[in-house]
Amino acid sequence: MANVVVLGTQWGDEGKGKIVDLLAPAFDVIARYQGGHNAGHTVCVGGRKIVLHLIPSGILHPGKLCLIGNGVAFSPPAFLKEVAALEEYGVAVGDRLVISRGVHLILPYHPLVEKIAEERKGARKIGTTSLGIGPSYEDKVARCGIRAGDLLDLEVFREKLITNLAEKNALFRSAGFPAVDWEEVYAEFAGHASRISQYIGDVSLLLHQKMREGKSVLFEGAQGALLDVDHGTYPFVTSSNSTAGGVATGLGIGPTRIDEVLGVAKAYTTRVGGGPFPTETQDERGRLISERGNEFGATTGRPRRCGWFDTLAVAYSCRVNGIERIVLTKPDILDVFEEIPVCVGYKYKGSTLSTFPAESWILDKVAPRYKMMKGWKSPTHHLTERGRLPAAFIDYVKFIEDSVEARVCIVSTGVERKDSVLIEEELEGVVDLGRVRKDLS
Ligand code: IMP
Ligand code: MG
Repeated sequence: MANVVVLGTQWGDEGKGKIVDLLAPAFDVIARYQGGHNAGHTVCVGGRKIVLHLIPSGILHPGKLCLIGNGVAFSPPAFLKEVAALEEYGVAVGDRLVISRGVHLILPYHPLVEKIAEERKGARKIGTTSLGIGPSYEDKVARCGIRAGDLLDLEVFREKLITNLAEKNALFRSAGFPAVDWEEVYAEFAGHASRISQYIGDVSLLLHQKMREGKSVLFEGAQGALLDVDHGTYPFVTSSNSTAGGVATGLGIGPTRIDEVLGVAKAYTTRVGGGPFPTETQDERGRLISERGNEFGATTGRPRRCGWFDTLAVAYSCRVNGIERIVLTKPDILDVFEEIPVCVGYKYKGSTLSTFPAESWILDKVAPRYKMMKGWKSPTHHLTERGRLPAAFIDYVKFIEDSVEARVCIVSTGVERKDSVLIEEELEGVVDLGRVRKDLS
């Protein structure tokens, strides 16, 4: 069967966690390729809610192998906390999880580096999750990062830590913060090392072997394409490649191993943190979306900014990711609206833009042009049958499909796995529907 990427087409929080959880039964391996515990993947099973940050959502399915690729920024304490939470929930991680030797560590002082950088930006701050994700990636690119593999030899780790921290302490002192003592960090991480070394392995090699055996892989994206460090709304982005290109570099496989990219898109748009958001709606309707959609960050609890579906943004996302199939989530949040605006163009300096400019300074100044779609005004919540989708909703879907040049293959109608309308002909040859349905029944 095919190896499939599931990633977000907007600014994250499109509902990827639920979709990965729904499709996981059809795959043998689930792999994360970028991001860190800034991600928040909410999964609801049997009325219980679990939020995963770092460990692939596939872990909730017994027997699935879960991988954390080298492209991930890895926090050992966050990981250990998640393992404990899963165990409390009744999910044994055991030997089903492998962490790449090449993941870059988030060190306990990385959040302070981030705090100083954010404060210096003032009004132009990014509004990050404050978890040290950016500084860990900065160290990686600056070639002074420390990787999980370095924890396997504590002498190596110690030496790298001393060098890395010397530079950071110069920054801390200049910003009026006390220096961090390397011995404390060393002691803490030596403890983590003894607990995580059993999980560390060669993820690229393992993937290669599994694919050779004919096993199928689901690549689980974090954040969304518009937060990609290269293709997103820079500099208001995260520090990794959340687009499909990141799959190959973030796991150590060739692009020839990726068969399909499924793009998850919410029926409207949200964004957490700073940065441009042309279709943002701060009126009563925006508040209604926020309330009905429970739009609060799964990691930071911050309210998400809400707005209308932006066909320019999602079409752009389809382009940079090679997406031909879309998973549309949370249409039920819009069930109450008489009319639903959909953005079809941007007015900018007297002319109309019909493609998405990723430059945030242009996006700051555009005025969205909307097409008013008729609301369906009937409940889509919990629907599972395609034939029961309201006609006006089908028109909404068709309009989106035509505008973004991709087909909708799944409509998600609620938080539970079973709240899903599967469009069979679009999923044919992409996922083994028999295996997905078996798990649903
Ligand atoms: P960072 O990833 O913590 O550096 O944050 C950079 C930007 O990405 C901020 O605007 C965050 O709010 C946003 N961000 C990071 N992770 C997520 C996520 O999982 N969902 C939505 N936004 C995110
Ligand atoms: Mg999220």
